[in-house]
Amino acid sequence: MRTVEVSAPATIANLGPGYDLMGMALDSPRDFLRASLIKSASDEIEVEGIGGDTISAEPDQNSSMVAARAVLRRAGVTGYGLKMLLKKGVPPRMGMGSSGASSAAGAFAANFLLGGTLSEIEVLECAMEGERAACGSAHADNVAPSLLGGIIAILRYDPIKVMKLRPLVGVEVVEVAPEVELAQDKTRLAREVLPASVMLRTVVSQMGSFALLLMGIMRNDPKMAGEGISGDRIVEPARAKLIPGFLEVKKAALEAGAHGCSISGAGPSVFALVPQGMGTQVGERMVDQFSAAGVRSKFSLHKISEEGAKVV
Ligand code: HSE
Repeated sequence: MRTVEVSAPATIANLGPGYDLMGMALDSPRDFLRASLIKSASDEIEVEGIGGDTISAEPDQNSSMVAARAVLRRAGVTGYGLKMLLKKGVPPRMGMGSSGASSAAGAFAANFLLGGTLSEIEVLECAMEGERAACGSAHADNVAPSLLGGIIAILRYDPIKVMKLRPLVGVEVVEVAPEVELAQDKTRLAREVLPASVMLRTVVSQMGSFALLLMGIMRNDPKMAGEGISGDRIVEPARAKLIPGFLEVKKAALEAGAHGCSISGAGPSVFALVPQGMGTQVGERMVDQFSAAGVRSKFSLHKISEEGAKVV
């Protein structure tokens, strides 16, 4: 029997206008996964930790196991089962890439147990299967940064092509988690509210924001990246109504000095990119503004991290 313990980080997807195309790894929190490869016809997984009781431990519905199984299948391994213990550190359904972290950990652990048989991009494709099991869509903007670290741009889906960008320096990330009622299939619902088509002028504006985001990151210009983050014209307007007080919270963050602010992944958390050292000041203003909308919330401060999934 071979055993490995790995961890994979929380992520923020979309970064405003980069719906399904951009995401970044955070320094904390992380999911931890202990995985063993055993001679067995079946798989077994236990889930514990933050929100662990809300996550399916059915092997064919658990994103860690689905991703790990995809690795074994892809590598042509038969006659072996996986035994796993998933310790959730990334809170589920808050917009911090919880299912992405579990999927990345599962795929990474399985590939490690096989001696690194699959390439990085093959492991990513397997991790995306975990995301599909969790929310019905195999998007990569959480799993890719959770697996590979840094800021990831997804340049193409079919076949998948990604580019790892250097984290912005001189910044911190404020994540504000509001206490709102969450559906079990929150991400699926947050994708269903998006428009099926948009006007050409909206696309033009969105492309401008995306260019600001990408160029801002590549030039390490947080102000430019922040303007891009704040400039989502398609997804954010559709989802804003799912988060009470969102527009006022965003305004408060920008007035308090944030470079940019948007919804974290599919929400309901809201994130702001802020100059290093201003996180507490911006976070407090955002929490106050949520309070004014009758919503309790908490903020946490993070760094963008180069580190993705790793052996513990
Ligand atoms: N790009 C995804 C979305 C991230 O916004 O739905 C959340 O899984």
